[in-house]
Amino acid sequence: MFSEYQHLIDLSDYPVSWWKKVIELGEKIKENPKDFAHECDGKIMATLFYEPSTRTQMSFQTAMIRLGGQIIGFDNPANSSVSKGETIKDTTKIVSSYADILVIRHPVAGAAKAAALTADCSVINAGDGGHLHPTQTLTDLLTLKIEKKKLSGLTIGMCGDLINGRTVHSLCKALSMFENDKFIFISTPELRMPAYIKDIIKANGSTFEEVDTLEEAIGNLDVLYMTRIQQERFASAEEYLAQKNTYVLDHRKMLLAKKDMIVLHPLPRVDEITVDVDDDSRAMYFTQAKYGVFARMALILTMLSEKKSTELLKGKIYNAVKCDNPRCITNHEHYLPKSFRSSGDETLLECEFCDERKLI
Ligand code: CP
Repeated sequence: MFSEYQHLIDLSDYPVSWWKKVIELGEKIKENPKDFAHECDGKIMATLFYEPSTRTQMSFQTAMIRLGGQIIGFDNPANSSVSKGETIKDTTKIVSSYADILVIRHPVAGAAKAAALTADCSVINAGDGGHLHPTQTLTDLLTLKIEKKKLSGLTIGMCGDLINGRTVHSLCKALSMFENDKFIFISTPELRMPAYIKDIIKANGSTFEEVDTLEEAIGNLDVLYMTRIQQERFASAEEYLAQKNTYVLDHRKMLLAKKDMIVLHPLPRVDEITVDVDDDSRAMYFTQAKYGVFARMALILTMLSEKKSTELLKGKIYNAVKCDNPRCITNHEHYLPKSFRSSGDETLLECEFCDERKLI
C-alpha cells in the first residue's frame, strides 16, 4: 500500500546514504543556523503528542521556528477531541489538511504508520510506544559524528531497559548498518534486547554480547548509552520495582572507563546517572539533546524538499489473524488492516505495524 507522501516511520525504510545526507545537513546547520532561517517560511508543522515529551516536542517546534515556519498541535490528547473517542485515522486526516508536515508521538507501537496511512501530508514518527524513535536516532548519529568523528568501528554499550527502549532499538538497527560496530547489551535477564533486534544486528553482520553488570563492560566501550527503566511500560508496579535502580552510573564507575568514552542518554533520566557525572567532560547527554534541534531541522528540510512517495505496507492482509502484541496499534484501532510480512520462517509472520512476530 503506497502513500503519495514521504513519511519517516522507521529509518530502515531509507538507505544509509539518505541518513548520511540528513546528518551532513545537520552538521551544516549547526555551523551556520542563520543561513537556514527562512527555508520554511509559510510552512506549518503539526505536533500531535499523545504521550508526554520535553525534548522531542520542543526540539521539533524549535527546529520549525528556526527554519521560519509555524507550529500547531496538542501536547495533551485530553485537551483535544481524542478525549471524545476520535481515532488516529480521523485526527490525522483533519490535521494533515491544516499542516505541511505532521509529527506524532503515541504510546502504542505502529501508531505513526497508522497515521501515515491516512495523512494528506508527510508524517514523522516521534516515538511509537516501545517500538521505534527514528528522530532520536538521527540525533544520536549526529552526536556520534560530531563527537566521535565516525559512525563505524565503535564499541557501544547500551544499558538499562533494553526491552522497552525504543531509542536503543532504533539506534541498534541504524548502527549495525555501519562497518565493525560492536554492541554490548547491559541489562537484567528480564530487560534484554528483543530477539527481533538481535536478529537484525546479526543479519547486518554486526556482533553483540549480553552482560549483567556495567562494571564488566564499561572499560571496553567507546560509547555508553544509558537508558531509563521505563515505569510506564511495565505491567505492574512490582515488576518495575524489581528493576528500578539496578544500573546507576556514578563518578566511581566513570573511573573504569576510557578517557575518550562518551556517555549518551536520550533523557529524561531518573536516577540511572548521578548528577556528579554531569561535570565529567565525557558526559555528552545535554549536548546530544541540543544537537536534536539541528538533526530535526535537517530532517524537516529534507522531507519538505524531496516529496517522495512511501510504500507503507508491503506484506499480505490476513483479516482473520490478530497481532499478539497487546501494545500494537492494530489491537487499539480496529479498522486497521491486519498486515503481516513473511519472516523467512514459514511458521512466523511479522506484524507490519509493530514488527512483533506471530506463530501460525
Ligand atoms: N529523548 C526523548 O524522546 O525525550 P522526550 O521524551 O522528552 O521527548
